Amino acid sequence: MTIKSMRLYTNVERIYNELKELGLAQSESLDVDTLSRFDQLHYHGTDALDIAIKVLALDSSHEVLEIGSGIGGPARYLANKTGALIKALELQPDQNKLAQELSERCGLVGNPQHVCGDFLDYDFSARYYDAIVSWLALYHISDRERMLKRCHQLLKPGGQFYTEDLYMRKAFNQDEQQNLAEELYAVTLPDWDDYQSQIEASGFEIIECQELSDDWGTFTHQRLKDYNNDRDRHVRVHGEATVEGLKIFYSSVDRHFQSGKLGGIRLCAKKR
Ligand SMILES: C[S@@+](CC[C@H](N)C(=O)[O-])C[C@H]1O[C@@H](n2cnc3c(N)ncnc32)[C@H](O)[C@@H]1O
Repeated sequence: MTIKSMRLYTNVERIYNELKELGLAQSESLDVDTLSRFDQLHYHGTDALDIAIKVLALDSSHEVLEIGSGIGGPARYLANKTGALIKALELQPDQNKLAQELSERCGLVGNPQHVCGDFLDYDFSARYYDAIVSWLALYHISDRERMLKRCHQLLKPGGQFYTEDLYMRKAFNQDEQQNLAEELYAVTLPDWDDYQSQIEASGFEIIECQELSDDWGTFTHQRLKDYNNDRDRHVRVHGEATVEGLKIFYSSVDRHFQSGKLGGIRLCAKKR
């Protein structure tokens, strides 16, 4: 099983089809607000990022590390809106390349700083951060203990860790586990209590923790409905294969939230 079994991560250049649809040629300059309709690979797009900006009180004095930055949507928005220096770390080379291209077209040169690598062994060269943020990426990471220890080490004293992530509300059966592994590349899904105790055991004090499961269940259910309703339009813009892949992905996510077993969490913690 590889991360590319998750169909959200195939045909990542499909964002260019959307830009073409808006009449924007491949080389034309872009702005962050136009892009943010298409480049946010988490729930509630930039509204979710505004919550983080507020909770972390982000401004241009901050250095922030984003784990699992995808095609760069959150990093561009945070850099553009707050002036904070964002290091955007992404595992998949194709997504990282796309993130870099899109940021350059927005005139965001050097901030965000897009880098490609695995958070578990990336060399940060003794750089420390005011905040580490991550949207829907940590559940992909196999060694949670190591991941949290690294987060703790990479933060400045009093630095903050902020994530929106998936967790397990109720035990999954074997078929569900198989589907979660294949279609969501869900590698670690702790339950609610373990999620928080692992963070505390890694040297953090939890500042706030919110249960988002019902909200994300509603969001992802509507997302699937809207996608199916607009299927003809999507096939015209992206082609049958891309649309079919995304439909399978959106359907899997919907099924797992509707079963009441997959949950969503927003958590902010401070380095002790
Ligand atoms: C669902 S996407 C979200 C992307 C972005 N956070 C957003 O909200 O638009 C999660 C991303 O995390 C990346 N990722 C997973 N494991 C990672 C790791 N060990 N190191 C760095 N990135 C990772 C994946 O490649 C994927 O692009």
